[in-house]
Amino acid sequence: MTNQSGKAAIVTGGSRGIGRAIVLTLAEAGFNVAFSYAANQTAAADVETTAKAFGVDCVGIQSNAADVKEAQALVEQAHKRFGRIDALVNNAGITRDGLLMRMSDDDWAQVLDTNLSGAFYTCRAASRIMLKQRSGSIVNISSVVGVFGNAGQANYAASKAGLIGLTKSLAKEFGSRGVTANVVAPGFIATDMTESVPKEKLMEHIPLARLGEPEDIAKTVLFLITSGGYITGQVIHVDGGLVF
Ligand code: NAI
Repeated sequence: MTNQSGKAAIVTGGSRGIGRAIVLTLAEAGFNVAFSYAANQTAAADVETTAKAFGVDCVGIQSNAADVKEAQALVEQAHKRFGRIDALVNNAGITRDGLLMRMSDDDWAQVLDTNLSGAFYTCRAASRIMLKQRSGSIVNISSVVGVFGNAGQANYAASKAGLIGLTKSLAKEFGSRGVTANVVAPGFIATDMTESVPKEKLMEHIPLARLGEPEDIAKTVLFLITSGGYITGQVIHVDGGLVF
């Protein structure tokens, strides 16, 4: 892989877990990175410092993915700072689990607003810049749950399935202008989000017999962004071979 020095990326939800690993992996590859985070300023400052040690510029911006104005401002601030946007990674995501019969309107709306509408807002804002540049790469972080469904996660699965439809459509709309759009669908990755998931039973379904690490996802994102631009509209499962 060539050094990506001078290129610029936006990562949503970069303060911890998979997003943090993506920010640091892109920074190590030479990208200047702007990332958003929900609330934890201390964690965001740590990511900034760690990324900057790779000799790139990095800024954490507190920005609610579910708010259209804040999402647009994130893209605008990154563009102003770096002068270009080469990659957009929509990683911010939440869960509000519960069986459908008892799921509140609020739990449905919050998950859809953050996970799906949030990606729509940043894709729309960043695509205006990328289409003008005639280059750029969008990677949306979905989930295997968006492909297979999951009892107790109707809201989350719908949001993650929606990301796949969104991304495949963008691939068709943007392809002729040199902009790619792909999905990474992680299986079970060891982060705060999966801390309470019972692991023993899960291992029966994972041929590689371990949870994934955030870096497993980050490396795949980097590959898609730097692979030369002939991969688009794809859903790449990074799940240790997970079968249900
Ligand atoms: P996490 O909960 O550790 O981190 C989520 C990140 O999103 C945090 O940085 C948080 O600040 C940010 N975030 C949450 N709500 C936000 C909002 N409204 N505005 C801006 N930022 C917000 O989660 P994890 O595990 O790192 O997951 C990252 C992505 O990967 C999510 O989209 C998740 O759905 C997806 N994923 C995770 C899997 C796992 O096993 N951990 C499996 C499949 C998908």
